Amino acid sequence: MGVGAHERILEVMRQQACDRLFVAVDAALVDTPFYKGIAALLAQAGVEIATYTDIEPDPSAITVERAFAVCRDHGASVILAIGGGSTIDVAKAVGILATNGGRIHDYEGIEKFSIPPLPLIAIPTTAGTGSEVSGSCVITDTEKNLKMSIRHAALNPATVAILDPLALRTVPAHVAAHSGMDAFVHAFESYISRGANLMTDAINLYAMELIASNIRQFVANRENLEAGLNMLCGSALAGITFGQTGLGNVHCMARFVGAYFHLSHGLSNAVCLPHVARFNLVANPQKYARVAAAMGRPVQQLPVLDAASAAVEAIERLCRDLSIPARLRDVGARHETFDEMATLCAQANYNRWNPRHTTAADFRALFDQAY
Ligand SMILES: [Fe+2]
Repeated sequence: MGVGAHERILEVMRQQACDRLFVAVDAALVDTPFYKGIAALLAQAGVEIATYTDIEPDPSAITVERAFAVCRDHGASVILAIGGGSTIDVAKAVGILATNGGRIHDYEGIEKFSIPPLPLIAIPTTAGTGSEVSGSCVITDTEKNLKMSIRHAALNPATVAILDPLALRTVPAHVAAHSGMDAFVHAFESYISRGANLMTDAINLYAMELIASNIRQFVANRENLEAGLNMLCGSALAGITFGQTGLGNVHCMARFVGAYFHLSHGLSNAVCLPHVARFNLVANPQKYARVAAAMGRPVQQLPVLDAASAAVEAIERLCRDLSIPARLRDVGARHETFDEMATLCAQANYNRWNPRHTTAADFRALFDQAY
């Protein structure tokens, strides 16, 4: 990690003895100086590349098939992903197909393939998903309209992840805000999860501190490389923990908000966050007090419940400062489907991880509050 770390791609190619490389890259990046610089370095070193750029948000199995065909025809021995979570997820899926064959559907679930995928070099260009260090990829089955989660220790983490804030300079401000909030929610929900432990706590507290103290400056100016690097680090730290601890009601609600109202993952999370944060407070006020401190609030002398409330206030303030819409109605949500969505949330069983037990009626009330 560091400013200019992408130049070490050549060292990585030598380590991997790679002369034929498959590159999955966000279409929006192809004409940027950042990507052109990497392509020039690879050309200089004699690495032959085949690129695939046609990657949509919530990428489909069809996209994976098409990308895989390019990788296979090129005879690539290593995969490079340059992009946000969708691009890195497609690259992971292509790597699985390259060594295991079959369709990506065959590998839905936990540890469903046996041969290690092709080595993956990941250069995230958003600070949000932590996909470069997480053990899963999410691919949409468009025939059944379902998201398939493919989880395997062999995906965790990428062979090499390069965190370079120069990669973030062309991110639009709203994407920086929404994906940055997704990273914050990963750290927050992982920290208060029932599956948390002392090690994930240590990592998540620092991730929240890094994100809370840098996200405003980063969203205001993506040329702020110090803020960008701190955001990339915070996002990756949370990416390390949340696969172990599970997430909570924010991600649960956001999953259906995103699907029903066609909103990005980051925005869906950010709108739901303050409401869920308030709801969950009573389950663990002590941890909320530490969240407040990590977010820079001077709470050491306060009674624990007051310190815990300061965390919710800090979260609300953060959302306001980043111009996150305050209500679901502001992002085009309609309340007619809330009953159905609340039932689906309860069935999704995030009670495994969410610190406060939540019923369908609770979810309905949370949707109403957020509306
Ligand atoms: Fe997320």
